[in-house]
Amino acid sequence: MNIDFANLQLQYQKYKVDIDANIKAVLNKSNYIMGEEVHELERALEEFTGAKHAITCSSGTDALLLAMMAMDIQPDDEIITTPFTFIASAETIALMKAKPVFVDIESDTFNIDANLIEIAITDKTKAIMPVSLYGQPADIDIIQAIADKHNLKVIIDGAQSFGSTYNDKTDSNLGDISTTSFFPAKPLGCYGDGGAVFTNNDEYAKAIKMMRVHGQNKRYYHKYIGMGGRLDTIQAAILLAKLPHYPQELANRQQVAQLYTDALFDTLQTPVIRSNRSSAWAQYTIRVNNRDALQAKLKDNGIPTAVHYPMPLHLQECFQYLNCKQGDFPISEKASNEVTSLPMNSFLTEEEVQYITKILNI
Ligand SMILES: Cc1ncc(COP(=O)(O)O)c(C=O)c1O
Repeated sequence: MNIDFANLQLQYQKYKVDIDANIKAVLNKSNYIMGEEVHELERALEEFTGAKHAITCSSGTDALLLAMMAMDIQPDDEIITTPFTFIASAETIALMKAKPVFVDIESDTFNIDANLIEIAITDKTKAIMPVSLYGQPADIDIIQAIADKHNLKVIIDGAQSFGSTYNDKTDSNLGDISTTSFFPAKPLGCYGDGGAVFTNNDEYAKAIKMMRVHGQNKRYYHKYIGMGGRLDTIQAAILLAKLPHYPQELANRQQVAQLYTDALFDTLQTPVIRSNRSSAWAQYTIRVNNRDALQAKLKDNGIPTAVHYPMPLHLQECFQYLNCKQGDFPISEKASNEVTSLPMNSFLTEEEVQYITKILNI
């Protein structure tokens, strides 16, 4: 059997009629930049997430930048985040000339350990940026309480978690600003780069809408230093075709995850989802101490795997200037040696999951 990790081809074939029609409509109208599909999508995203404002943009990376620009993050401000995430979380903090301050993770959820945040706060701290890794929100109640106590903002990097929930809210409807990515392999992906910023704060929403078009409030009049950060109309049209299917896709991912866990729980370290949360299952990630051998065995049997992420951010060359060293964040370091993501997408069949788990259990 040959297993597809993300199954993007099959996904397109499933929604082809609607996607093609939507793309064709954009081509016929030639409304490539900020066409009505962009606004239509934003209203649909607001409805889906419960957030008052959904503002689409060019990527999940730019969504983080726009969030920090709207918050007026200044050079030397400190933002607390996790070292066990994709580079963009901390890279965007550094691009703002602010300082990423790392706090280690919980070993079971891989999310920032909220109980370690307070000791990392200084008089320069401006915000906390939890990342909803692999699709599960971090402990937002504790994080928000710390933020309120110290007068800090919360920016949720929800690039991997669109549609996940914490208590009764989606994680796009939490924090001061929440972001997501529509990168093709993300749970809700477009067919190129794309992202969105979510907020219930009218002032932030107003600023972000200007920031994504070069800070202009009126054509060729620029209130802020902004960026070219819009979502293409064609990508919005693709997402509009896909969004109605997304609740079913989330349910399918949940079912795949459950099948994996039921079959692997006794033999391997399977993901832990806290009882007050749901995951969007961007990844189904197990922990093993013989990763290379396991990956090789799976590969020999036609099963692709991935490592998210092999080196924590505090040890990356680009962050040498932060003067962190091996041993500073031991839980992240251990996780980066052990994590292995299995194929995860809405179209994996029960038979395929059984095949994968059978090989894993041999
Ligand atoms: C946690 C996290 N943050 C940010 C991003 C950036 O998103 P994009 O690739 O859309 O720029 C990603 C993408 O992989 C991510 O996983």
